[in-house]
Parts: sequence; C-alpha cells; structure tokens
Amino acid sequence: MNEAIPLSEVLELERCARRDAERRLDAANADLASALAELQSAQSKLVHSDKLACIGQLAAGVAHEVNNPVGYVSSNLNTLGEYVADLLRYINACRTLVIDCANEGRTIVESARNVETLADAIDLDNVVGDIEALLAESNEGLSRVRKIVGDLRDFAHVDGPDLALHDINQLIDKAISVAWNELKYKADIVKEYADLPPVACFAGRIGQVLLNLLVNAAQAIVDRGEIRIRTGQDGHDVWVDVSDTGCGMAPSTIERIFEPFFTTKDVGQGTGLGLHMAYQIMRSHDGEIRVHSEVGMGTTFRLQWPISGPTEGNKVDDDANAR
Ligand SMILES: Nc1ncnc2c1ncn2[C@@H]1O[C@H](COP(=O)(O)OP(=O)(O)OP(=O)(O)O)[C@@H](O)[C@H]1O
Ligand SMILES: [Mg+2]
Repeated sequence: MNEAIPLSEVLELERCARRDAERRLDAANADLASALAELQSAQSKLVHSDKLACIGQLAAGVAHEVNNPVGYVSSNLNTLGEYVADLLRYINACRTLVIDCANEGRTIVESARNVETLADAIDLDNVVGDIEALLAESNEGLSRVRKIVGDLRDFAHVDGPDLALHDINQLIDKAISVAWNELKYKADIVKEYADLPPVACFAGRIGQVLLNLLVNAAQAIVDRGEIRIRTGQDGHDVWVDVSDTGCGMAPSTIERIFEPFFTTKDVGQGTGLGLHMAYQIMRSHDGEIRVHSEVGMGTTFRLQWPISGPTEGNKVDDDANAR
C-alpha cells in the first residue's frame, strides 16, 4: 500500500514546479523580446538600405536626365564661342571702316565691301538671329538641371525628427521629376490636383511612398499607358490616388502585397519592400494605404492621412523607426 504523502509536501513540490516553470517562461520571454528587438532593428536597417538602393537607382536615371540638357548646353556654348569669334572679326572690320571714313574716305568703298563680304561669309543675319535662341535654350537647360538636382537632393535628404507642413501637390511633382526616367517611356502622366491646405508630414518618407507607387505603376504597364494622380481632401484627411492602366492584380496577389519581400518581379528588379515600407510609413502618419485592382483593368492605390499629421505617440514611434 502506498504511503500517503503529506499535503504540505505536495504543496511544496507544486510550488517548486511552478517557480521553475515561471523562471523558464521568463527566460523564454526575455529571449523572445531580444529576438524581436534584433528583428526590428534589422528591419529598420533593411528599410533604410532599401531607401538608399531606391534612391541610387533613381539617381542613375536622374544622371541620364541631366546628361541631355548638359549636352545641348555645352554644344550651344561651343557654337556661341564660334559666333563670338566671328562677331569680333566683324566688329574689327567695322572699326577699320570707321577709321577710314575719318581719313577722308579714300579707301572707304573698299572697306565697306570688306565689311559686306565678311557679313556674308559669317552669315551675319543668321548669327544675330540665333544668338538669342541659343542663350534662351541654354538658360532653360540649366534651370532644368538645377530643378532635377534640387528635387533629388530633397528626396535623398533624410528627414529631421520634426514634422513639417508641406504642399503635397508639390511633393508629388518632385516625385514625378525624380522618377521621370522610369515613367516617360511607359506612361502619359495626368494630374488632377485639388487645392490643398499645407499638410503635416515627414516629407522624405511620404516622398518615398509616392516614388514607389509611381515606379510600381510604370512597371505594371507593358507597352504604354496612363498614370493618373489625383489629390483631395476628405474631412480632416488628405488623400492621394495613384492609378495606372497596367496589368492589375489577382486577389491572391493583393492579399500579399504588404508582406515584406513579397514581389512578383524578376530577381534584381524588385526587393518586395516598397509597399511594406509604404504601409509602415502611412501607419506612422496615423494614415492608411488602400488598393483597388483587377487583372487587366489597372490598379489604384490611395494614401490617406490626417492633414494635421500623426498624434504625439506616433511621432515618437516614427522617430524611433528612423534611427
Ligand atoms: N501598380 C501595380 N500594378 C500591379 N501590380 C503591382 C502594382 N504595385 C505593386 N504590385 C505588385 O505588388 C508587388 C509588391 O510591390 P512592392 O512595391 O512592395 O515591391 P516590388 O515593386 O516588387 O519591389 P521594390 O518596390 O522593393 O523594388 C509587386 O511585385 C507587384 O506584384
Ligand atoms: Mg515597388
């Protein structure tokens, strides 16, 4: 027959077992917390490196964009240099004529003929007519370069911790300008901007979301299509729609697009982080990103967030994410 174990011993055994289980649970929790912290920091590094990769790719496009105006501005300057040399010769001939006139006109006819021959030789009418056009075109080219470089600088610039008021329509224009090399062969861009009040946001991060939506839209278009960008206000919120006439998505794809590393693109073309980042960035603005898409019918993404920006708690979260 079994000897009865005293109740106090049973209770003590049970207490020990519980303490042991609690210790193990605590240890497992601590391991989990540190694994989570490591994952979060790895994720934020990845998001940051993806931003750099994205800007790197776009910078290559921008370099290509800048090349064209720089090419014609320098060619114009060469032509202008030749014109200036011709004009100096012409001015010298005129001066000789003037001096000859002062010398009582003995060689005046010969000098005048000289001036005329030279005017023909250098095609003076053409030179005079072209100078203005070349200068105007060169100026336009240089302003284009200045604008492209400025827009890229704004995008590459990492936000400070401060939320600031921005003109969202202008921010979209900058994103279009930075992504232009990816867009121009694929789509006509149609803008339907509403008059918007200044909107509180982290401009670099919202710009990053817009860039990814624009590049995704262009990549979804096979030959040539349309990308339509609309903005508007809904109560206390601002919204931006980016629509394309591209391939669209099946419901099974739509379900997964915000997952990190989900991509249907070839290796090297997409990392699958763009929309995941967009989702995080919109959440950190107390906003959201929604999608409507049908295979063969195109896709619309909508960004929406409060005009007054995220609440205090989220601002802190967002700053932590940025580090
Ligand atoms: N406008 C769109 N039309 C059709 N499919 C889209 C569109 N935008 C996104 N997708 C789908 O969602 C997937 C995920 O997009 P996401 O931007 O996250 O990554 P990615 O574009 O593949 O790569 P990354 O942006 O990191 O370069 C894409 O691979 C594509 O299948
Ligand atoms: Mg993308």
